[in-house]
Amino acid sequence: MADLSSDFVGIKSPNPFWLASAPPTDKEYNVRRAFEAGWGGVVWKTLGSEGPPVVNVNGPRYGAIWGADRRLLGLNNIELITDRPLQANLEEMARVKANYPDRAIVASIMVPCEEDAWREILERVAETGVDGIELNFGCPHGMSERGMGSAVGQVPEYIEMVTRWCKTYYDKPVIVKLTPNITDIRKPAKAAKDGGADAVSLINTINSITAVDLDDFCPEPTIDGKGSHGGYCGPAVKPIALSMVSEIARDPETHGLPISGIGGVTTWRDAAEFLALGAGNVQVCTAAMTYGFKVVQEMISGLSQYLDEKGMALDDLVGRAVPNVTDWQYLNLNYVTKARIDQDLCIKCGRCYAACEDTSHQAIAMKPGRVFEVKDDECVACNLCVNVCPVEDCITMERLTPGTLDERTGRVVESDYANWTTHPNNPAAKEAAE
Ligand SMILES: Cc1cc2nc3c(=O)[nH]c(=O)nc-3n(C[C@H](O)[C@H](O)[C@H](O)COP(=O)(O)O)c2cc1C
Ligand code: SF4
Ligand code: SF4
Repeated sequence: MADLSSDFVGIKSPNPFWLASAPPTDKEYNVRRAFEAGWGGVVWKTLGSEGPPVVNVNGPRYGAIWGADRRLLGLNNIELITDRPLQANLEEMARVKANYPDRAIVASIMVPCEEDAWREILERVAETGVDGIELNFGCPHGMSERGMGSAVGQVPEYIEMVTRWCKTYYDKPVIVKLTPNITDIRKPAKAAKDGGADAVSLINTINSITAVDLDDFCPEPTIDGKGSHGGYCGPAVKPIALSMVSEIARDPETHGLPISGIGGVTTWRDAAEFLALGAGNVQVCTAAMTYGFKVVQEMISGLSQYLDEKGMALDDLVGRAVPNVTDWQYLNLNYVTKARIDQDLCIKCGRCYAACEDTSHQAIAMKPGRVFEVKDDECVACNLCVNVCPVEDCITMERLTPGTLDERTGRVVESDYANWTTHPNNPAAKEAAE
């Protein structure tokens, strides 16, 4: 078994799998069971200021999107930060940390944008002995209307200011959790770095309405005839999270800033992808809420086996794919592929034909006996047929070797790498050459 022990900004845990701040980490009972199941760390459900705890709705707080097999693909919630008293949370955190010294416990915090409010809660969190804090600048509902959560995460100046206060009043690692409800994720990440953050974590949930009831014309989840936007998470948000993580990892201004990757991690493979794109560890919420705490065991054994097979250490994987993330204009235009259908695997459903004939490039022929064949002189290699085919690996994309004829363009495939920046059709390339 590969060694999965993790050191994220000085916070040690036996593996890189942490539970994200959310219902799974809301109380001592949950966190103890999570640690017994194998989780390496937790970010405790977000704490608010001393005083009357927040009040949640008493009707449904979740909406969802499912696949055809009823598998949960996306979860929407209108839950607020913890609705349990601050003191109760702090006492429980201290107790669990003392009992599980090898596991990571990070306190998530969201208080008003006032220096005194931050200083007060930081002093009390420090007394618990937990390993660090995460600043919740992410929640897109409820708290944001009160000037917290994503209302702060959308203003880089506020992020920098609050991060600086935290670095002043707290001497353990400060992780800044970013909202994806922003156009350019690099701006808040840079602000966190400028404020002295030890790391950023992302993503928090995405603003969303998952469904509308067409009888009472109300967004779901419905509370007495009304609904509000909530935060979207789960497998559906993974592509957005991966892209945002990669943007921070490859931008010269934020490159090297440690990242805790969050968003749709359900299997070891999802986690490995986040790590490859630059995350130093991952956090999980929806998968634990859907399948229970033991889901971490597949993550641990899967990642460990993968690293063994590759002969890699955990640190070798972190950031491994970052140099291969580029901008469109640098993609090799001399890389030519064609779709290939494996007739032995084909079940003759015709989906590829319908997709290509109606919406792509009329490059699949339907022959007698429902035999489907690719027409190389029409195929632009878009990959749509691969994606709509219900049989895995039935359609694959095959590279044309340099020197062979591309029947569609009538040109011989060149071996040299050539991209849009030098392409003759690019007016900017011509100007640069003149
Ligand atoms: C019901 C629910 C409550 C959440 N509460 C918090 C919270 O209090 N603080 C926080 O930082 N994130 C909160 N989140 C966001 C998660 O920590 C996480 O960022 C998000 O769900 C994406 O991860 P996932 O796709 O693994 O669920 C919550 C998510 C859910 C579903
Ligand atoms: S790759 Fe695109 S163009 Fe080629 S056969 Fe498939 S759908 Fe048609
Ligand atoms: S979509 Fe796949 S299985 Fe269906 S006809 Fe095309 S190649 Fe065959």
